[in-house]
Amino acid sequence: MKLSDIEFRAMNTWWRRWGHKHFELPLFQKLGLNPKNRDVLEIGCGNGYGGHLLNQFEPKSYVGVDVMEEQIGIARRNYPGYEFIVQDAADLSRFPDASKDVVVIFGVLHHIPEWRKVIDEIARVLKPDGRLFLEEPRGVDIKFFDFFFRWGHPDSDFGLRPLEDHLRSRGFKFKKQWTPLLMMYHCSK
Ligand SMILES: C[S@@+](CC[C@H](N)C(=O)[O-])C[C@H]1O[C@@H](n2cnc3c(N)ncnc32)[C@H](O)[C@@H]1O
Repeated sequence: MKLSDIEFRAMNTWWRRWGHKHFELPLFQKLGLNPKNRDVLEIGCGNGYGGHLLNQFEPKSYVGVDVMEEQIGIARRNYPGYEFIVQDAADLSRFPDASKDVVVIFGVLHHIPEWRKVIDEIARVLKPDGRLFLEEPRGVDIKFFDFFFRWGHPDSDFGLRPLEDHLRSRGFKFKKQWTPLLMMYHCSK
């Protein structure tokens, strides 16, 4: 689902980029993220800053998908050398089965009422030894932002427990790292 105006503005600030670079990426690295020479797919790539960070590791290929044309427009303007596509993540049919080594999600599933389909699609496009790196907020934090800042997240049954149940049902094992705002996961089959 498209972002509300206020969240769209928040996602395009220096402090969002700061968190991305100095907080979330290092935590994913601690959990084992290493995109070098890998085929990488980023779900909900937004303005492309995450893609810019991931490309510093010299992946074999990188593609970022996002449902918002506005975000992909910014990503293409800011980082013309990387591949960004307007695409609903619940339908990754443009990517063949077992074609990606690494899938990365920086806080996106809680925006997608059909988030289970996204996990199913990721399970399909990942190679057997592929890895999913995933970060999402807790349900209580989503409610906090919606109550105080009117961020307008979609009505959804998304939560960390349903997420973990669904990951298990699709054959994923995971390690996780708690942080005050986000739960970070390294998932493998
Ligand atoms: C909270 S923002 C995070 C953006 C970026 N990953 C970041 O960390 O700055 C969530 C992103 O998910 C995208 N999104 C929402 N629903 C989507 C869907 N169904 N398919 C792909 N992207 C989606 C939004 O457009 C937005 O860019």
